[in-house]
Amino acid sequence: MWIPSATLIVVLAVTAGLCDDRLPPASHTMFPKGFKFGASTAAYQVEGGWNADGKGPSIWDDYLHKHPDFIKNRNNGDVADDSYHLYKDDVKAIKEIGFQTYRFSISWPRVLPTGRTNQVNQPGIDYYMNVIDELLANGIEPVVALYHWDLPVPLQDIGGWLNPDIADLFTEYADLMFKTYGDKVKWWITINEAQSVAGGYGGGNAAPALNLHGTGDYLAGHNLLRAHGKAYRMYQQKYSHQGGKISMAFCGAPCFPTTQSPEDIAAADRCFQFSFGWFAHPVLRGDYPPIMREYIDRNSKAEGRNVSRLPYFTDEEIREINGTVDWFGLNYYTAYWGKEGAVGANPSTDRDSNVNKYFDPNWPSTASSWLKVIPQGLRLALQKLRQEYGNIPIIVTENGYPDNGDKDEKRIGYFETHLAEIRAAIYEDGINVTGYCLWSIIDNFEWRDGYTVKFGLVEVDFDSPNKTRTLKKSAYWFQNYMAMHKLIQ
Ligand code: NOJ
Repeated sequence: MWIPSATLIVVLAVTAGLCDDRLPPASHTMFPKGFKFGASTAAYQVEGGWNADGKGPSIWDDYLHKHPDFIKNRNNGDVADDSYHLYKDDVKAIKEIGFQTYRFSISWPRVLPTGRTNQVNQPGIDYYMNVIDELLANGIEPVVALYHWDLPVPLQDIGGWLNPDIADLFTEYADLMFKTYGDKVKWWITINEAQSVAGGYGGGNAAPALNLHGTGDYLAGHNLLRAHGKAYRMYQQKYSHQGGKISMAFCGAPCFPTTQSPEDIAAADRCFQFSFGWFAHPVLRGDYPPIMREYIDRNSKAEGRNVSRLPYFTDEEIREINGTVDWFGLNYYTAYWGKEGAVGANPSTDRDSNVNKYFDPNWPSTASSWLKVIPQGLRLALQKLRQEYGNIPIIVTENGYPDNGDKDEKRIGYFETHLAEIRAAIYEDGINVTGYCLWSIIDNFEWRDGYTVKFGLVEVDFDSPNKTRTLKKSAYWFQNYMAMHKLIQ
């Protein structure tokens, strides 16, 4: 049983009488009324059951079976946390800690083994219905992502996100999901981290690892945007009566300008436009950020190409894609210093952006080489989003700290400092942040790092038959933290 700490009892006593709309906010140490806390996972990283009950293979199943050395310790997601069988344990932990929402993803090949709607896998459909029902029965609101990187193999066989037909195929899949779960699910994410998905085509770090840098990534990104836009319009036409709200989960690491010189300030802006802006500008302002268009067209020309490496939308596509997020899903982990300078493979998105991004040696390291702790970057990202896209409601859809199973105190510090930056953004900058989903509720398959890097609030014993889940210190810290903040809800 959880026993409230002395601090919590004092806070309970002090704030109990302050829930009155006529009063100003209790203090900037609290979150505003209605702010929601949640935790996130993704299908391939937790479910396991890779071929259970009629599920088809995804590009991650396929790639890791063919290239086992791609991942540390030759790990893969075949079994993972076995959430396919143990989802009730996950829900129990989510409830015990006190989260109001749970963000998870649907595995496309689990419900549609061929990727197409001609073959629906009923056990897969039932699985997600059971997860949703279990959440709702426990008073937890589902936030559901349709694509967290696990494309059905038969769709990769026809080019995956490089094939323009994918937009219609994704929309068909989304249609089935909205029809099936839309009465119960009101928060949808179409694509998680489109930039990372595009990276699987432009780079070699994620399936399908095609390494088509500076071409395949832009083409995949183009079709991801077309798919998102079509799925959003379809929802509006057929399912608006369900009253759901749709976004993408956008990602990027913002840059602080190295100096206040105009060149560095412009470089920091390009750092944003070539990451968040790549996908957010088309859905919130229409078409690609002008600076992306200018730089990539110019470089393409200089390379002797007649056709830009960044594809063009038709006018109709620009209209279809513009205005297709109801809220802004922000995945934030880290930030950089940025200055002018062409780095990276030629051609590549990095080189096109002409930004030299680097970590400050003083920023604390973590178990992930790509993640240094810099909480101020979260506020910077929020400020930049407001400046670029106005006061759209923002939900932080991911934020978390990786260790090797040994630094849970640092995870607590990470959350505390990042949540403080969110409050500063809300109260001092007036930014409309309405929720926060941390990554992740449980330790899980961390892509190339396998199970060696852990993001969970809940430890998972991957060697035990039941994948025993045990709450970490950070879970109790979060429980306490949310209990205090809920007092003014
Ligand atoms: C973003 C991704 O959405 C998620 O799958 C991943 O585990 C986390 N970042 C941490 O790397």
